[in-house]
Amino acid sequence: MTASASVSRLRLRQPDDWHLHLRDGAMLAAVTPETTRHFGRAIIMPNLVPPVVTSDQAAAYHARILAARPEGSAFEPLMTLYLTEGSQPEDLRRGVECGLIKAVKLYPAGATTNSESGVRDFDKAMPVLETLAELGVPLCVHGEVTDPDIDIFDREAVFIDRVLDPLRRRLPHLRVIMEHVTTRQGVDYVRSAEQGLAATLTTHHLIINRNHLLVGGVKPHYYCLPVAKREEHRLALVAAATSGDGRFFLGTDSAPHATHNKEAACGCAGIFTAPNTMSCLAHVFEAEGALDKLEAFTSLSGPAFYGLPANEAWLTLVKRPEPVSYPARVSVAEGQTVTVFDPGFPLFWDVESIMPS
Ligand code: NCD
Ligand code: ZN
Repeated sequence: MTASASVSRLRLRQPDDWHLHLRDGAMLAAVTPETTRHFGRAIIMPNLVPPVVTSDQAAAYHARILAARPEGSAFEPLMTLYLTEGSQPEDLRRGVECGLIKAVKLYPAGATTNSESGVRDFDKAMPVLETLAELGVPLCVHGEVTDPDIDIFDREAVFIDRVLDPLRRRLPHLRVIMEHVTTRQGVDYVRSAEQGLAATLTTHHLIINRNHLLVGGVKPHYYCLPVAKREEHRLALVAAATSGDGRFFLGTDSAPHATHNKEAACGCAGIFTAPNTMSCLAHVFEAEGALDKLEAFTSLSGPAFYGLPANEAWLTLVKRPEPVSYPARVSVAEGQTVTVFDPGFPLFWDVESIMPS
């Protein structure tokens, strides 16, 4: 693939989403087609209520996701287990060996939506972490400390020093993905590692900073965790995403919540980017003069880190002369909706087609 300033058509391997929330029930039914339209595979987050802790629970959830795919879709959900202090290494081993489990998710208890069953005492999680290291299966980490004394904007940077770096020194063979990195410190830490460390970057963190969230009134649809940081951090994320460095790849963290639960006195965290992610990313990469790096970010580096082949199918993006429109909201059952991420600027890049090969 080549790109120049005047590129208006781009063909890439079909993308994957290495961090996705699909939920369950009516929400699962409503949002799954928004991802399967463009993406070949996705790493499915296990923070349901109750969480997906065992391989049997993951197998049942996998079946529910397959049933929610539109007819004819070949979308492949890649399942994760939610790490608790009681997680069983043998259950993990079984799930990995039968090909179902592709990663384990670490939520520090209390860090984000549905993380109450997460880890407080890392010693208790060591048997599972040692098994992960032995199997070469990645640990996906929500990298924020939960100490109430730590300012919310500092929680990622402090997590690296207090938790992640010591953990990686204790288990040097553990393969770690720092999820939804939001800071320059996160980017620098990933760059400093010689092996076994990668990061996902979300669509929205490449576009919004904390001013977008807070200036001129609080914008609940820009609220997510980790919370968007200062502009200098956003610029570091854009530089990492567009660098072609295989340690940084797309995990949208598309996290649907009903619109009324976000537009509330205590609005919940999560931004729904599944429908327009590819248009947003093409815009961001074009603005950086880096359209030739988009395929690595969305379609090649993620599979390489997971030891999987790239998708066989190809996706074609075209730049339209007029803005492309996306629905502002997606309907869920019972009159509820999920609000789609608004990047705040017109989008001209459109997914024209997906071809089998
Ligand atoms: C996610 C959710 O809603 O499940 N929310 C978010 O703000 N990103 C949880 C998470 O990934 O932190
Ligand atoms: Zn998430």
